[in-house]
Amino acid sequence: MSSLAVLHASQLVTLAGPNRPRTGTGLSELGIIRDGGMLVRHGKIERIGSSDEIEKNVADAEIVDARGRVVMPGFVDAHTHLVFAGNRLDDFERRARGETYEQIAKAGGGIWSTVEKTRAASELDLLAQAKKHANWFLRCGTTTAEAKSGYGLTVEDELKILGVIRQLKEAVRLEIVPTFLGAHAVPREFSPDEYLGVVVTEMLPRVAAEKLAEFCDVFCEPGYFDIDQSHKILSTAKNLGLSLRGHVDQLTNSGGAKLLAQLNATTADHLEQTDEQGIAALKRANVQPVLLPGSVYALGSSRYPRAREMIETGLAVVLATDFNPGSSPTPSMPMVLSLACTQMKMSPAEAITASTVNAAYSVNRGDKIGSLEPGKLANFVLFDCEDYRELGYWFGMPQTHAVYVRGDCVLNSSRI
Ligand code: NIG
Ligand code: FE
Repeated sequence: MSSLAVLHASQLVTLAGPNRPRTGTGLSELGIIRDGGMLVRHGKIERIGSSDEIEKNVADAEIVDARGRVVMPGFVDAHTHLVFAGNRLDDFERRARGETYEQIAKAGGGIWSTVEKTRAASELDLLAQAKKHANWFLRCGTTTAEAKSGYGLTVEDELKILGVIRQLKEAVRLEIVPTFLGAHAVPREFSPDEYLGVVVTEMLPRVAAEKLAEFCDVFCEPGYFDIDQSHKILSTAKNLGLSLRGHVDQLTNSGGAKLLAQLNATTADHLEQTDEQGIAALKRANVQPVLLPGSVYALGSSRYPRAREMIETGLAVVLATDFNPGSSPTPSMPMVLSLACTQMKMSPAEAITASTVNAAYSVNRGDKIGSLEPGKLANFVLFDCEDYRELGYWFGMPQTHAVYVRGDCVLNSSRI
């Protein structure tokens, strides 16, 4: 059946509002309809209103009775490293013994150990593991995820990962936004400048020509790619028509936020060490900050980014998981909501806006997803709670009841 009528949501959290990322007090306006309903036709939202109003227009639609649950847009996870082989259980155990991210990397763990496993894996094996990850995202209520390459670090292996991301898009109902992150680390076989040459003259032209990615990202950090090298990579990508994101100021305040502002990037991600000048630079260029509290938590740090200052400055803050095997092994946006509220002092409403509509704008899809409004895709979730604030409050407990992508039920609790 191509029509659905969702009825009796305790709260239909629409996030209806202006056609732009939300800032300031706009982050708190969720457009909630009590006992709300929604009419869906051919995968798109046709009408939003009270249950009574929608019920009058159901005609031949299949009824989805939410029975007093929260209904809201699927989460949009704007920062993930979804495709990799293996895990980093040894790093996890070492961290528990007190070793730092940098010490573990030097001792043979870190990004490099995942690169070795990912290079050795076949496309088929990578796709199988990626499908498993995609299913985890859906189970947490995420319906769109950005996905980065970055564990290949040779022309062939980066293209292999982007090829897997392309196949994944066809194979799963999670919607995927591909990002090229060839500059994630300097591979052992090259000097930094040699590898920079490979990224700029070999990888990026192929990625752009074969339309394998919408965004280019870089790990801008001393010991990985410095400001000049990051500038070279990102400006080349921009000239080739890619939009820009960046891992900046994660471990040191090295000027990454300012660089991304200068390049008019779409997002600046991490920002744990960014100071007020960096925040002001992001504001001047309207770059969206993507905050990743899951990685701060999993690394055992307490240095969270300054979310309140960013909101007060007027930035359109985004929250994401940073799902990856090393620093943030979680696909759970509800966990991120919990961390945002408890550790970064964001309100539950701000956290919901940052992980739905603002995240949608940050992956250039603000016109299609991120809110429940007529004309947008019917990507929505029923949660087993009555109040949206419960999502970040009951932490560590799945509350997903059913997940819909383009009007199709792709998961319900009997299958979770
Ligand atoms: O976002 N900072 C760089 N990249 C990832 C970590 C990747 C890894 O450790 O495998 C991050 O935290
Ligand atoms: Fe990351």
